Amino acid sequence: MNFQTLYAKDKKLVLLDQTVLPDKLAYNEYTDYRDVIPAIQRLEVRGAPAIGIAAAYAMALGVQAATDTGVDQLRQTMIEIGKEIKDARPTAVNLAWAVDRVLEVAAGYNGDSADEYRQIFWNEGDAILKEDQEMCEAMGRYGAEQLPDKCTILTHCNAGALATGGIGTALAVIYKAVEMGKDIKVFADETRPLLQGARLTCWELMENGVDVTLITDNMAGYTMSLGKIDAVVTGADRITKNGDVANKIGTYSVAVLAQKHGIPFYVAAPESTFDKFIESGKDIPIEQRAPEEVTEGFGRRTAPNGTKVFSPAFDITPHELVTAYFTDTGVRPGGRQA
Ligand code: MRU
Repeated sequence: MNFQTLYAKDKKLVLLDQTVLPDKLAYNEYTDYRDVIPAIQRLEVRGAPAIGIAAAYAMALGVQAATDTGVDQLRQTMIEIGKEIKDARPTAVNLAWAVDRVLEVAAGYNGDSADEYRQIFWNEGDAILKEDQEMCEAMGRYGAEQLPDKCTILTHCNAGALATGGIGTALAVIYKAVEMGKDIKVFADETRPLLQGARLTCWELMENGVDVTLITDNMAGYTMSLGKIDAVVTGADRITKNGDVANKIGTYSVAVLAQKHGIPFYVAAPESTFDKFIESGKDIPIEQRAPEEVTEGFGRRTAPNGTKVFSPAFDITPHELVTAYFTDTGVRPGGRQA
């Protein structure tokens, strides 16, 4: 990769600004966690694993700037800051998971040095980033092994390096398959309304020399009916105990279409995306986005003033539509029968 989605440097968080891609490759530096929250909300950093890592580093920024002198006061402050950060976006479980993880590790600190206590947050952010990179590699390898030597994959949204600290989830499978010498072509759904497929997936696949063809979301069914798609691979924002998958709005439609056409539907996700507490998809909170993203998304009004809009950012794909899950620990069967 000739870009890095996010990293920490000199006690700052650096984010690749995904709102300006593919026009510009720009990085923004953050020193205040209160600025990271709106950056997550406006999708400057996005994708479930990446917002988890950003949340961990936002905690580090929070503890760094906190003026409390003693460790006990800092602990209280961090619990409050953690609540604010967790509220940034509700659907991807990685965000709350990362906040809880850094708080838990910091809770184990028995000393009385505020500096040592602060450093724990930076170290844990680094650890989560490094683990994410390793998980992407492992998941990519497991998934790639499942693909035929020559195949065309449809993907939805962006589940690539831009969505993680490493080489991605769904796109990691593609990168690894190419690395193994397989002949892989990709169709990318545009992914309305914010065009993560067009702006981000096409950009990063092209940067990495992968053959990608863009389609609008409503072209997926016809493209499948022409026999042009051999497999679908998407990422996930949260996977419940029964295997239901929350992912970018439109994923469910693609899964239904894949079943109709007898095309395998795979979900690639690290262990941090599996929610061990929620039974099924109906309990996952679905983020609602601003109507303007639909009616005037990229600076031009495309619906009459005052048009009513329903804009869920994610949908639920029931486990019965999933062929298999590619995880960093191996391949798990899904609930789809054929
Ligand atoms: O709203 P976004 O762009 O954060 O949505 C991202 C997705 O839905 C991805 O598919 C998901 O987070 C998996 S990323 C590895």
